[in-house]
Amino acid sequence: MPLRNDETALGHHQSAMKKNKIKPFDFQFPDYRPRRIRSHAVLRSLLCETRFAPEQLIMPYFVRAGHGVKESITAMPGQFRFSPDTLLTELDSLAAGGVRALLLFGLTDSKDKKARGAYAKTGIIPQTIRAVKKKFPKLAVITDVCLCAYTSHGHCGLLNGRGEIDNDASLPVLAKMALAHAEAGADMVSPSDMMDGRIKVIRQVLDRRGFKSLPLMSYAAKYNSAFYGPFREAAHSAPGQGKNSPKDRKSYQMEPANREEALREIALDIREGADIVMVKPALAYLDILREAKERFHFPLAGYFVSGEYAMIKAAAEKGWLDEKQAVLEALTAVFRAGADTVITYHAKAAACWLNSR
Ligand code: PBG
Repeated sequence: MPLRNDETALGHHQSAMKKNKIKPFDFQFPDYRPRRIRSHAVLRSLLCETRFAPEQLIMPYFVRAGHGVKESITAMPGQFRFSPDTLLTELDSLAAGGVRALLLFGLTDSKDKKARGAYAKTGIIPQTIRAVKKKFPKLAVITDVCLCAYTSHGHCGLLNGRGEIDNDASLPVLAKMALAHAEAGADMVSPSDMMDGRIKVIRQVLDRRGFKSLPLMSYAAKYNSAFYGPFREAAHSAPGQGKNSPKDRKSYQMEPANREEALREIALDIREGADIVMVKPALAYLDILREAKERFHFPLAGYFVSGEYAMIKAAAEKGWLDEKQAVLEALTAVFRAGADTVITYHAKAAACWLNSR
């Protein structure tokens, strides 16, 4: 039987509009001219649908032991590895621009199979947290919780005797790491390892040890992305060091082609106790951000990762695009997609540009 008109997709849409008394959008040229509202700078600004401020940005930093260290990171022009003292100087300018949150990644010279450096109470991250909180009590110090910079093989979890990632054996180590950061005064911990069940275990340990109110930001949907390349140079955390160790993170980070899997991961982490869920990378995964926001109505972070940073920096260095415009446009896109907060190495520069508008 042929479809009646109101059974076609368009007919269905029109009858739904009639029922809800919504007028169809039937303006047409020349009665309607969309350019009218774009003709004046004030109108453009009045009707701007997406805005963000420096206080919605989180600036990542790499820290290592030592004094007076400020090493350039080749693949991330404008980013450095700091020692705790030089980081404090850097934070003066971050805070002056209005960015109020930072995410710390630690580097260690003593890596081992068990990632002991990851939970040392006197390790680089606890030291840095104490120094930052002492000088900048109002800044929020967020810490990365992951083993990859502390394991000799560079994986985010421990390996078993067969060289496979041992999910369940990694959980207590991650929990100890989160606890060490909490005890040093971190304002939020952020697990990025993608082991199953880590949010639950970390939440339990923190609750038991007196940190019921410490929030967790989960890298809930973290893809196995080529855009992490520059980060691995920065953090000395490339996977697959030594023999009998997988050469990539495909067994724990998600396949870039998958959308439903991301939604399952996010749902699980919310259930396990995450306070903020993250989609990473951000710029190449705007659809996932949008869907996560619409589906869960939950605090959502986007991580504008190292490779996304490096692409813009490299093109700008060559004079192929305007850095300021490209950065502000790309960050706007991540907020427009649904992120409430964005982690970005552009945070300090972007704040400066936003403030001078
Ligand atoms: C650690 C971690 C990575 C990033 C954040 N935490 C790297 C990785 O998974 O290999 C990447 C961040 C970036 O590229 O900016 N697991």
